[in-house]
Amino acid sequence: MPSIPDDSRAVTAASRSGVDHLTVLGAGVLGGQIAWHSAFKGKTVVVYDPFPDALDKLAAAHASYAGIYRNDLHATPADIDATRARISRTDDLRTAVARADLVIECVPEVPSIKTDVYRQMAALLPAHTRVATNSSTLLPSDFAAATGRPEQYCALHFANLIWIMNVVEVMGHAGTSPATLATVTRFATEIGQVPIAVRKEHNGYVLNSWLVPLLTASLGLVVDGIATPEDVDRTYMIANRGCTMGPCGIIDAVGMKTAYDISAYWGALRNDEQMLRNAAYLKERFLDRGLQGMLGGEGFYRYPDPAYRAPDFLAVPLEAGRAA
Ligand SMILES: NC(=O)c1ccc[n+]([C@@H]2O[C@H](COP(=O)([O-])OP(=O)(O)OC[C@H]3O[C@@H](n4cnc5c(N)ncnc54)[C@H](O)[C@@H]3O)[C@@H](O)[C@H]2O)c1
Repeated sequence: MPSIPDDSRAVTAASRSGVDHLTVLGAGVLGGQIAWHSAFKGKTVVVYDPFPDALDKLAAAHASYAGIYRNDLHATPADIDATRARISRTDDLRTAVARADLVIECVPEVPSIKTDVYRQMAALLPAHTRVATNSSTLLPSDFAAATGRPEQYCALHFANLIWIMNVVEVMGHAGTSPATLATVTRFATEIGQVPIAVRKEHNGYVLNSWLVPLLTASLGLVVDGIATPEDVDRTYMIANRGCTMGPCGIIDAVGMKTAYDISAYWGALRNDEQMLRNAAYLKERFLDRGLQGMLGGEGFYRYPDPAYRAPDFLAVPLEAGRAA
């Protein structure tokens, strides 16, 4: 199990960043984590999602994070109550951004959806508000104009399972002001993240420059019938001792929709046959059957007790005759 960052107990907002009011666009996997964690760290948070069922699912996700923060981060009942009290949800964009010091965009990894929400939001934002994208693979320069405030816009990329994987990548585009980069970097530090400066615009930052190829190759082994998901993960976990999950477990944590969006978008753009085969598999095997991955309870594995956490997952099998 990776160690929990030392400073992960709740703190009141030091707010050197000036970010006291955070708005998160998108109530899915990462939006839900960023909202919960920022509120745990003392920020007032509004989550916006135009789909009411996504806001309902957010409540369920936050109930599950409450359990994790109690068990793994030793949060007290008072910490959890205070966290909940700092979060509100809405399907009204104007209400969502009215007091925002910072907006973090966590809508699907689909350029047209991101562009639309930035355009809708541009006229509603207070003048001082900074805006960041949590995009996994796209560039801030793809959307800077749509925000209407390019100098106040950059990427702030969180890693999934934010309470353990406390790294955040900060990446501007050519027009991002130094003050914006300083603000979001301070904000990241205030909520217990290690900020990594990405010094040139780069699709995938540091983390996804290797994670996306790793997941693509691993999923390809399953899609092409070369190995089972369990054996792909077993191989990875034996070869990388101490890891708590393998690539198929990571895909479950990412969520099948985002894994699909990335495979379909980059597969089409780069004419990458493997990514396109992977996208078709994710759609047919999971999305068409309503299986969303870890947050929804089932992907390659069933949660909350996936097979890869069983004590014998990496054990040497018994020989046939001796097992009897
Ligand atoms: N899942 C991960 O591991 C991960 C990690 C880092 C970054 N990201 C990035 O974060 C972003 C969100 O990914 P996710 O995995 O949370 O996706 P998700 O599919 O779990 O959630 C996306 C949410 O956005 C909502 N949405 C759709 N259209 C919207 C709109 N116009 N306005 C506001 N909300 C809208 C959806 O209802 C859904 O709740 C993507 O850019 C993704 O690349 C994801």
